Amino acid sequence: MPYAVITGTGHYVPEKVVKNDDLKAFYDTSDEWIYERSGIRERRFAPEGVGPADLAIPAVKQALERAGVDKTALDMVVFATLSPECWFPGSACFLQEKMDLPTIPALDIRMQCSGFVYGLSIAEQYIKNGMYRRVLVVGAEMQSTSLDLSPEGRTVGVLFGDGAGAVVVEASQTGPGIVSTHLHTQGKYARELWIPEPSSLKRPKVSPDLKGLYPYMNGKEVFKHAVVRMKESALEALESAGWAPEEVDWYFPHQANYRIAAAMADQIGLSMDKFYMTIHKYGNTTAASIPISLSEAERDGSLKKGQKIILTAFGSGFTWASAAIVW
Ligand code: UT7
Repeated sequence: MPYAVITGTGHYVPEKVVKNDDLKAFYDTSDEWIYERSGIRERRFAPEGVGPADLAIPAVKQALERAGVDKTALDMVVFATLSPECWFPGSACFLQEKMDLPTIPALDIRMQCSGFVYGLSIAEQYIKNGMYRRVLVVGAEMQSTSLDLSPEGRTVGVLFGDGAGAVVVEASQTGPGIVSTHLHTQGKYARELWIPEPSSLKRPKVSPDLKGLYPYMNGKEVFKHAVVRMKESALEALESAGWAPEEVDWYFPHQANYRIAAAMADQIGLSMDKFYMTIHKYGNTTAASIPISLSEAERDGSLKKGQKIILTAFGSGFTWASAAIVW
């Protein structure tokens, strides 16, 4: 059985920096409130007309270049996003068109903040069972157009940002690369963090009186579950790999809230020094947050070959997922 190894990473964030104070144009809020509650200082917003596939292109190009893989050699694309260009088809189809990729399977998955780790697991399985040799996994989000910029939207609106990350996963005779992945869902909490409309339960699906177009989040409930599930799934990955928490070089938590990562680190008995954080710069980029962190960590020299890392994510669904990887 081949190993599944991440051979290239890339990321892209739009140029426009939106500082906490800039959000005062829409909301009754402050830099102090946002930073203390979430750890966010700023995020990026892309201009209207840009979709997740557009944001993904520079990230994918970097990942392919770093892997030394030509786009014609890809066997599959897995694209995780909760903010696709349209109802259907998925963002992966647009990426395939815009990058002129071969007519390979281009699969969208909708696992929200856990989407990238789910995508990695799909890539891992296709590679380990021998069906494919090179899979591109993308997490990309255009969230800014979905945010409620009216005064009522402040609790959710200050948290999210746009961006994209990508990795190339390849079959290899030398590993271990991706040691294991672990996936979970608990749909009974689906309505605690969701965008309920437009909904196919209604006719017409889109009407002038839609009230659920913007993300709704029961913040405190989501926070509690996020700490427990991200910790649990990190421990699950550690146990499966046979690693003690302190022998891991880096933890890459989904960037939802600095306090969530800090609570999780505390409960595992680790310092935040081992947690790679980008939330202060980019806010919560949902499916893009972990691949952006991986790519940045590789570029700034923090993440090195042979290091042991744990990815752990939690989000709408509820969904949660983790991975143990030797880089
Ligand atoms: O990626 C998916 C997973 N997402 C998450 O994991 C997010 C989880 N939740 C959270 O991170 C936190 O619940 C938040 C950061 C969203 C909110 O923090 P909180 O400590 O739970 O605050 P809260 O919602 O209870 O609000 C506290 C107060 C309220 O005022 P009162 O009722 O105490 O007078 C809010 O109205 O803060 C007020 N508030 C704000 N004030 C200034 C809410 N949003 C804002 C704001 N600026 N943007």
